[in-house]
Amino acid sequence: MTIALIPGSFDPVHNGHLEVIERASRLFDEVIVAALRNPQKSQPLFDLVERKEMLEEALAHMDNVRIVSVSTLLVNVAEDVGASAIVKGLRAVSDFDNELQMAQMNRKLSGVETLFIASSSEHSFIASRLLREVARFGGDVTAFVPKVVAVRLQEKFANE
Ligand code: PNS
Repeated sequence: MTIALIPGSFDPVHNGHLEVIERASRLFDEVIVAALRNPQKSQPLFDLVERKEMLEEALAHMDNVRIVSVSTLLVNVAEDVGASAIVKGLRAVSDFDNELQMAQMNRKLSGVETLFIASSSEHSFIASRLLREVARFGGDVTAFVPKVVAVRLQEKFANE
C-alpha cells in the first residue's frame, strides 16, 4: 500500500493545495494531509483545530484522503503513518530553494523521500499569505478557496 504524506501550514487551505492533494490521490493508495506548525512563520490566523476542520470539509469528497493536525516534526508523522513519500506542490522557482532544503533535511533525518508535483499555472500565484491579506481588507477570495474557507475568513475579519 502506497501512502503519500502532504504536509503544510494550510493557514488556510486554498485551491492550489486542493489540486496537489487531488493529483496525489490518483497516484497513491492513500493520502494523509498533515496540518503542521511552521515555526518560521509568525502567529497563524487559524489554530490547528480550525485548519483541520476546514481541510476535512474541503476534502470530504475524496475517499482515500485523511487529515491529521499535529505539532511535531514532519519526519515523526511520516514514520507514524508509514508514509511511502512526502509530497509537496511547487508553484514557482521561488518555492524551490526552501523546499529543496527541507526535502534534504527530512531525508537526512529519517530517510524519507520527498516528491514534487508542479502546480498548474492557474494556481501558481495563490498563496495563503496573500489570501489572508486580501480577506483582511475585505477583498473577494471566493475564486481561490473552498467555500468553507471563504466563510471562515469572512467570519474571522467581520469584527475588524
Ligand atoms: O505550508 P508551509 O508553511 O510551507 O509548510 C511547511 C511545513 C509545515 C511543512 C514545515 O514547516 C514543517 O515540516 N513543519 C513541521 C516541523 C518540522 O518538521 N520542521 C523541520 C523541517 S525540515
